[in-house]
Amino acid sequence: MKPSSFQTEILAGLTADQKYISSKWIYDDHGSDLFEQITKLDEYYPTRTETSIFETAFPELAEILPAKPVVIEFGSGASVKIRKLIEALNPSAYVPIDIAEDFMLESVSALQKIYPSLDMHPRVADLTKGFQLDGLPGAKNARLGFFPGSTIGNFDSATTQKFLISAHQSFGAESHFLIGADLVKDKAVLEAAYDDAKGITSAFNKNLLTRINRELDAQLKAENFSYWSHYNEETARIEMYLVSDIDQSISIAGQTISFIKDEKIHTGTSRKYTIDSFGSLLKKANWGIEKVWTDENDWFGVFLAKAV
Ligand code: TRP
Repeated sequence: MKPSSFQTEILAGLTADQKYISSKWIYDDHGSDLFEQITKLDEYYPTRTETSIFETAFPELAEILPAKPVVIEFGSGASVKIRKLIEALNPSAYVPIDIAEDFMLESVSALQKIYPSLDMHPRVADLTKGFQLDGLPGAKNARLGFFPGSTIGNFDSATTQKFLISAHQSFGAESHFLIGADLVKDKAVLEAAYDDAKGITSAFNKNLLTRINRELDAQLKAENFSYWSHYNEETARIEMYLVSDIDQSISIAGQTISFIKDEKIHTGTSRKYTIDSFGSLLKKANWGIEKVWTDENDWFGVFLAKAV
């Protein structure tokens, strides 16, 4: 049997010199639940800040866009934000796109109960690969991409470019894209958001180990790893790691993987932007900035881009 893309990617990451696991794999059912808990933590300001910006931005967005747009949401899952957007825009169709199929389909059926007449077209895609979404409903100028939560900040630079270009090609000229991106700010505020006192972010990262054990029949012991994260001011990134507390080795699909004490597995990155740095990223992928909304502290940015 052909190995799953999960197996292939995990093995590639755990046999690399600097071991890594992409944070996209954290979001199985349990990981998605843990992330929901993160979004409600005192230390985790992004969700509530973005939500409060949306309160101002959505009514203005409804004025800017043509009536009855088509909303294409990336990395859907939690449906609170999308409900507010649906209510503000009254879209003619909704296209949720996510890598976690089961979690997405559950959210979609919950959403369909609330909006029985909304036309929904869920799609499964790995946003970190180039993609082409053919046959999207609606006129190009009525399409609105929606990518909240600063999930774009979890991509590396090459992936971010590929993603923005794929979205541009899929939606077409004159379409719009609304993206939430976290902004550069005080290091202490940032570091607390990614290492909360209750240890939920640690459990969230360690969920990777549980998933590898379950799906790849491995024997990683979560108690032998510690979570560590820090903000790198030079690159404007939060970096997240699982650190091996001891020398240990495990086997996955017949391959032995050894960890030495204090060896780090890179499990996530969360990039922080300025309005200018994010604007120039968009521009490189042929998206022009139409409008930017921020909060009173300039902690978070909601960018409305238009395809040129
Ligand atoms: N998009 C979220 C962010 O960057 C995702 C996130 C929050 C995350 N905490 C995390 C990703 C911990 C990996 C690990 O803020």
